[in-house]
Amino acid sequence: MCGIVGVTGVNNVLPYLLKGLEKLEYRGYDSAGVYVSSDKGGDYLVKEKGRVSALEAKAKKETLIGTAGIAHTRWATHGNVSVANAHPQMSADGRFYLVHNGVIENYLELKKQYLEGVHFESETDTEVAVQLVAKFAKDDNLSGIDAFRKMISLLDGNSAYGFLMMDRREPDVLLTAKKKSPLLIGVSDHGNAVTSDAAAMLDLTQDFIELVDGDVALVKPHEVEIFDESGQKVERKPFHLDIDPADTDKGTYPYYMLKEVDEQAVVARNLSAHYFDEEGNVQGIGCGITDSIKEADRLYIVAAGTSYHAGLVGKRYFEQWAGIPTEVHIASEFAYDQPMLSKKPFFIFLSQSGETADSREVLDNIKRQGFPALTIANVMNSTLTREADFALPVLAGPEIAVASTKAYTAQIIVQAILAYALGDVDLDLKAELAKVAVEISAITDDKDCFKKIADEDLKGQKSAFYIGRGLDAAVALEAALKLKEISYIQTEGFAAGELKHGTISLIEDGTPVFALLTQAKTAGLLRGEVAQVAARGANTIVISSKSLAKEGDAYVLPEVNELLMPLLAVIPAQLIAYYATLARGLDVDRPRNLAKSVTVQ
Ligand code: F6R
Repeated sequence: MCGIVGVTGVNNVLPYLLKGLEKLEYRGYDSAGVYVSSDKGGDYLVKEKGRVSALEAKAKKETLIGTAGIAHTRWATHGNVSVANAHPQMSADGRFYLVHNGVIENYLELKKQYLEGVHFESETDTEVAVQLVAKFAKDDNLSGIDAFRKMISLLDGNSAYGFLMMDRREPDVLLTAKKKSPLLIGVSDHGNAVTSDAAAMLDLTQDFIELVDGDVALVKPHEVEIFDESGQKVERKPFHLDIDPADTDKGTYPYYMLKEVDEQAVVARNLSAHYFDEEGNVQGIGCGITDSIKEADRLYIVAAGTSYHAGLVGKRYFEQWAGIPTEVHIASEFAYDQPMLSKKPFFIFLSQSGETADSREVLDNIKRQGFPALTIANVMNSTLTREADFALPVLAGPEIAVASTKAYTAQIIVQAILAYALGDVDLDLKAELAKVAVEISAITDDKDCFKKIADEDLKGQKSAFYIGRGLDAAVALEAALKLKEISYIQTEGFAAGELKHGTISLIEDGTPVFALLTQAKTAGLLRGEVAQVAARGANTIVISSKSLAKEGDAYVLPEVNELLMPLLAVIPAQLIAYYATLARGLDVDRPRNLAKSVTVQ
């Protein structure tokens, strides 16, 4: 949610920090701040509400050329959105500056126990942490790192944290620590860095050291020292991240979302190249995974939001191609209301970020119960990929717009390939996916058509529906989420047959009802449901597949294998959401209140 960056050992650190924050802005962004110091003396702290650009305007007025600094984008958890609550938080004596991702569950108890009489500027749990560090440094005469360690040792065991701190007495040293929150150390010959997301530091380096939960590290201009949970100094090898820095730029696109929608055809091709050999046999899925799944009597797919919707589609592949009963669950519900499990369950976690706290909670729970798990994620080296027994990459490339698009289609494709590898179906999936990629391109080329639909059918509307049956009902949920989360048009995704059991009373004259019609078995029934809402005044917009199309349908999708039609049917919905949002003058990539990676429960 919040984003963290820090850099030391470069000449003029501010541009690195600001560019890093811009890259992290999508994670959460109600306020931002930066603390910069120079090894020649001098420092400054600047914080601002709103966008990173607002912080930039303020920080650029500072004349000091800094050689080390830390910065943060905040998504408020404790305390409202204000400059005082933005990070870095400073200790009352002005010595320590701290940025933080996570929630300190027992911060009020700690404040009461240790910080009676200390003046607080903010309502944040982070300020409690930094005041504790200052107190321990002063009262117990501890070094900065020992005071930092003591503060961490007092945190409630449930607290997930990523900390990055600076001590005025050591102006070129970054102190960092993490538990269940992503933090990487970037290393290079021309300076070192700390970041919650590698994408933010690609301008400095592509070599990163992954911290393990409980680690505390000192990051200096030419040296990195890491200590594990027991305080032992440890060596952790860097890995090279093969990301083209250009992948994290918008290029000529006005918004990341549009770029990411367009990238879906390439992602489908990349996945085929990765997971199939020349002959169309599945590769890259170890027999550890397939053997373990074959021993299971039931699959449990666990995920949140768009990834959950991808799981609803994947279920069909596991059941129909691999013959394994499959349940799909919302992570935040499963975590505290675990259903009765089968005798031999196997868990599949779906996640773009690999950091979603709700899913992590379930993974922790089921690991304690001794069940095997596979994570299918876009960000490898993330908590969910590391902590599951197995991991498979989604290979969608950096997804920066808050609204997930290419990670959804890529997750569906990876599930299809996995189910195909597990089963024995008479299908050339590699060839089918090649067709899918071609047809995705054909649909994304029809942007004018979707713009027209958005402009004409959604103009001035406050609510809308997406309906479908079977797989189309699953896609309707995702289509509705896309439209509502970025355009703020309240949209319900509905299993069409269920509409008449209550919700149809919401249909008024002109209510837009989008129908997704790609499944032959239920096409007739769905046409009936479209007629029912039309008879009650709805403006019906049918998106059908070629063989099921009728005159008057708003858009006709090309035809691929029926089970793969979600990969095509979702594209118009993504683009309609995009254009409806543009028409409302809203920021497509950064809808209000939302964060890309939801790392708190
Ligand atoms: C919506 C969206 C979210 C995420 C959800 C889970 O467009 O992106 O619903 O899908 O927060 O995130 P991941 O997939 O990172 O676990």
